[in-house]
Amino acid sequence: MNAITPNPQAVPAPVGLLAELTHRCPLRCPYCSNPLELDRRSRELDTATWQRVLTEAAGLGVLHVHLSGGEPTARNDIVEITETCAKLGLYSNLITSGVGGALDKLQALYDVGLDHVQLSVQGVDAQNAEKIGGLKNAQPQKMAFAEKVTSLGLPLTLNSVIHRGNIHEVEGFIDLAVRLGAKRLEVAHTQYYGWAYVNRAALMPNKADVDASIRIVEAARERLKGQLVIDLVVPDYYAKYPKACAGGWGRKLINVTPQGKVLPCHAAETISQLEFWYVTEHSLGEIWTHSPAFTAYRGTDWMQEPCRSCDRREKDWGGCRCQALALAGDAAATDPACSLSPLHAKVRALAAEEAADNPPDYVYRTIGSNVRSPLKEDAPL
Ligand code: SF4
Ligand code: FES
Repeated sequence: MNAITPNPQAVPAPVGLLAELTHRCPLRCPYCSNPLELDRRSRELDTATWQRVLTEAAGLGVLHVHLSGGEPTARNDIVEITETCAKLGLYSNLITSGVGGALDKLQALYDVGLDHVQLSVQGVDAQNAEKIGGLKNAQPQKMAFAEKVTSLGLPLTLNSVIHRGNIHEVEGFIDLAVRLGAKRLEVAHTQYYGWAYVNRAALMPNKADVDASIRIVEAARERLKGQLVIDLVVPDYYAKYPKACAGGWGRKLINVTPQGKVLPCHAAETISQLEFWYVTEHSLGEIWTHSPAFTAYRGTDWMQEPCRSCDRREKDWGGCRCQALALAGDAAATDPACSLSPLHAKVRALAAEEAADNPPDYVYRTIGSNVRSPLKEDAPL
């Protein structure tokens, strides 16, 4: 494995802050991107610290704050935190499940200046959706929440994470987004980190269904031009080139966990040799510019072949470090999702094999479970 050395290349200004306010959540989605070891309530940052972090983020040039979790409305101070964003001129996006206390807090969030809502939907058919999310009666709560969002005039994005348990509903997600008056729909094929990695065999769709889902989205984009924007995240394992994960390591995004650990992406903790700094000990600016975790894979100096001499290296920044570790056993390797990686054929074969087998039961997301991270074991390829 390559030694990690700080990268001296110029430091860009961050654009977005993903504020994981809490890991508490009423849903138990088996594809959750949170780590397997979830932060408990007793370790969460207090209101004043979040307000200081937001102030520092604005000073660094951050424009968008994604108020996320877990379920961010589970925090009693969500309205105060949102108000702080508004006062600092930060565009606030509430990423919510729409269940639990979300509906009760929505009016107050709107009143203090919330800018945008992103609502997760696990399925179109209520029974299927509630099986995936692991919570009975969630679907009617989500629908009531969505209606309230649009009645307030707040822009609504629906987020549907696609996998073999709901890939047959892609057309239905599009109809649902239109019916609810959403401005945007994310058809996001599952990315296999965190809980999704553990559940990969239960979630992996086959290539034919993936291709069909992409055709459905392309046709709907044409049909619904000017009415609904549809973002499509294609599944890595079937892609030709990887995505620029998190917009490139240490280039655009800062992720702060509920206990204040600052990460370059939501799964970075799986790279166990990295050293992460906390907002309780350093300013956000210091962490962004100098912390070992952010400097480790910033720029291109750390790259190996084929990335090092590839003309796409400043487009996708070598793909995803966490996936490279998970699949290749080296976070500095070319992401095996890339067709130029020597491991890509194996990734394709692995996906096809898992998709062909009967799906195992979901391992539902839960705080305090003993699920071990497969990312720390030997890479499977
Ligand atoms: Fe991107 Fe590296 Fe693949 Fe080139 S070789 S396309 S830089 S992941
Ligand atoms: Fe960590 Fe992609 S999830 S770099």
